[in-house]
Amino acid sequence: MKMDTIRNFSIIAHIDHGKSTLADRMIQLCNLVTEREFKDQILDNMDIERERGITIKSQTICLPYTAKDGTTYSLNLVDTPGHVDFSYEVSRALASCEGALLIVDAAQGVEAQTLANLYLAMENDLVVIPVINKIDLPSAEPERVSLQIEEDLGLDAELIRRCSAKNGTGVAEILEAIVEHLPPPQGDPAKPLQARIFDATYDSYRGTVISCRIINGSVKPGDQIIFMSTGAVHRVEEVGLFRLKKEPSKYLSAGQVGYILAGIKSVGDAKPGDTITLKDAPCSSPLSGFREVLPVVFSSLYPIAADDYEDLASALEKLQLNDAALSFQKDSSAALGFGFRCGFLGLLHLEVVQERLEREFDISLILTVPSVRYRFMLTDDSELMVDNPAHFPDPSKISLIEEPYIRASILIPERYMGVVMTLCMERRGENTKYHYPTPGRIEFTCELPLAEVIYDFYDRLKSITQGYGSFDYEMLEYRPSDLVKLDILVNGEVVDALSQLVHRSNARARGLGACEQLKEEIPRQLFKIAIQAAIGNNIIARTNVSALRKDVTAKCYGGDITRKRKLLEKQKAGKKRMKTVGNVDIPQSAFLAVLKRD
Ligand code: GTP
Repeated sequence: MKMDTIRNFSIIAHIDHGKSTLADRMIQLCNLVTEREFKDQILDNMDIERERGITIKSQTICLPYTAKDGTTYSLNLVDTPGHVDFSYEVSRALASCEGALLIVDAAQGVEAQTLANLYLAMENDLVVIPVINKIDLPSAEPERVSLQIEEDLGLDAELIRRCSAKNGTGVAEILEAIVEHLPPPQGDPAKPLQARIFDATYDSYRGTVISCRIINGSVKPGDQIIFMSTGAVHRVEEVGLFRLKKEPSKYLSAGQVGYILAGIKSVGDAKPGDTITLKDAPCSSPLSGFREVLPVVFSSLYPIAADDYEDLASALEKLQLNDAALSFQKDSSAALGFGFRCGFLGLLHLEVVQERLEREFDISLILTVPSVRYRFMLTDDSELMVDNPAHFPDPSKISLIEEPYIRASILIPERYMGVVMTLCMERRGENTKYHYPTPGRIEFTCELPLAEVIYDFYDRLKSITQGYGSFDYEMLEYRPSDLVKLDILVNGEVVDALSQLVHRSNARARGLGACEQLKEEIPRQLFKIAIQAAIGNNIIARTNVSALRKDVTAKCYGGDITRKRKLLEKQKAGKKRMKTVGNVDIPQSAFLAVLKRD
């Protein structure tokens, strides 16, 4: 394979600016599919992705493109996930490319993630071609957006291309620009193998499919490969290119992007960022930039019906095959019985897993209050990491508590400055800074405890800015914090799954808020229910759910047994989404409601 006819590139964009639509249009133009076969959004093929319009799992494709100069090029489009939770995966995908298309919506302009993604591309020394998409929209302002790209992002105006991914205008010019302006890969096929893993998916027949970029050397079926981070050795069964399906080839060599099958059982063994080399002729050092992706948000999952426990266990195992970032271990709760403590990359990741469990595996779940991982220094000088409020150590033995912080970057029109500032202050924001990237728009940065952001921060931001605010974050270090454990008691019994760690100064307000929310969520029952919030033995808030006097079947005078049965059935269906704690039925929604704030 001649390297000067290869181009490796990614498409990066803020959510919904049209990345997948453009990718599909390019696939169509390169004649990989006929018009008839063309199915919208080929690259986003998971149900949930399609519904939510977000790319979660990246897919790569190799496009044969015959340029105006008559040469046929191999364009490797490395698709990247489009959400902040997955930014490490994005950075590994970018590290496997020489260039990127940076898409900016012609109506929305530059957003927080446009910037974040551009920075990632710059860190990886990529040549960036800015693309203004959706020029067909009546509200499109390509002139204004061009200026923004030139002045705020500092990108070369000459390189800007305009297109409508929807109707195809300008897409051919983008393909030409890729060939003309992006550099071909460099690397030496004669050197020892160095390949960077940027993704791994699971195929139930073939095992793990590793997506990788060959930096130096080559790899072919029969080779013994070694993963440098773990030392694991595998024998290559097949290598090939990503077309619409996997297309086997004799070998992959320097500059190429492709897949390797080596009978690997779990995607967890092929870590993004890791370097693959040959066992018999290894390279001297791994490629830089590898790190383990660690979960940052934790929540326990309990099946509503105890009989579903085994099914939940096997469903989680199946999901993990394809989602190495999902971690789980057995957990039990006095209130909820047996379940699993799971770790996620962020809240979106958590929601996706929850939805897949409910939809694909038909398991009704209770999710406990999401939590971050706290660090405790104990009086005996030992250190303890706790991600489950139920395991909060004895307060008399704690000398220091630390929690993870993030730096949030928020882009908003100037008029929302006040409300956004207030929101950040409520969430214990510090070190707020802002500047005006363009007149009328503010980029606001602020350091916040991650715990204050994981639940509803993004939703609140969207609602107070009428959808104009965009948000991105990066992890900072752990910082000391004055935290206490807030317990919730239902009829005098602590419901461990409702406990949360909160800042002391907010404890009373949070306690009251949680009691009020629960009062809304817990349906009235035949007896009075007391809901209390407590720190240790101190009750700091309380409300009651008053008793229900009416018998549901009382309406069925005359003793019509079928009507009576129907009503009882209806009640039972409602109960399927509830968990009985002591003698009180608590609905699924209540477990997250305690985190809601107004
Ligand atoms: P993520 O996968 O979440 O990163 O989103 P995305 O950037 O891939 O966006 P996607 O391609 O799913 O497009 C988002 C929405 O914009 C869809 O409803 C598209 O139909 C629409 N869209 C994309 N390109 C165009 C365009 O050129 N013109 C118009 N009018 N709409 C477009």
